[in-house]
Amino acid sequence: MSEICITPHANDFAACVKGVNLAQALSPADAEQIRSLWLRYQVLYFPDQALTHPQLERFTETIGPYGHDPFVTPMSGHRHILEVRREPEEDVVPFGSSWHSDWSFQAAPPSATILHAKIIPPVGGGTHFADGIRALATLPEDLRRAIDGRTAVHSARRPYSHAGYRAGGKRTSMKIVPSDDAWQTQSHPVIRTHPESGREVLWLNPVYTLAFDDMEPSESADLLARLFEHMLRAEFVYKHRWEEQMLILWDNRSVMHCAQGGYAGHRRVMHRTTVAGTVPV
Ligand code: SIN
Repeated sequence: MSEICITPHANDFAACVKGVNLAQALSPADAEQIRSLWLRYQVLYFPDQALTHPQLERFTETIGPYGHDPFVTPMSGHRHILEVRREPEEDVVPFGSSWHSDWSFQAAPPSATILHAKIIPPVGGGTHFADGIRALATLPEDLRRAIDGRTAVHSARRPYSHAGYRAGGKRTSMKIVPSDDAWQTQSHPVIRTHPESGREVLWLNPVYTLAFDDMEPSESADLLARLFEHMLRAEFVYKHRWEEQMLILWDNRSVMHCAQGGYAGHRRVMHRTTVAGTVPV
């Protein structure tokens, strides 16, 4: 078993993990330790992990079976790896740069996303994470009452329909494939119970959550705005700064994330996989 060393951040949300080499097959004990750290801290980052594509794939499979990644063409020869790339001259907003939880519009959204940094710009380009567990635990009583027992509608239409903000020809370094499938909707509980830790989570996100079910649209929009304001309070947000060859494993069942810009004129390249999840309850 490796001498795994953990440095947690404030509020027990996000932790740095050293002392394990993800390029090698993990022993069952190491894999179990990483899994339980991930459930506890929700976001784990591992500096200095030089990984080939097969090594990234093997680590992903250690966490679980692959998720299904729609609307973006994967890397050639590696159908489970998406390359999140922006070139210095590209004049488009960075991929993933509004707050979201990956593919929350799916019936069973991915449990984990794994992101591996290949080329990091000298400025900007961080990723921010928001803790949905603490957001729920501190929710004012009136907001909690307003959402108890409710479901909300999720859809990929805003970014990935043909009318969506990711459609159109400006992006050159990633192949986004808009589709009519993006109009499908999926209702999920607003308060979900984490299937592994049993913790309750406030589970909404500004990109994919359209509205509450069975609520008048303007009331729904107002309530969502109040909830997002609460979820993004500074004390729930971890602002991650990348180094090349760093890997992050995060939990989409309890965390929203948002890619940061601020690196115009520089290249940024990340490799991303997802791990299948279960139907939220
Ligand atoms: C994503 O949303 O998956 C991309 C995050 C990032 O590039 O920082």
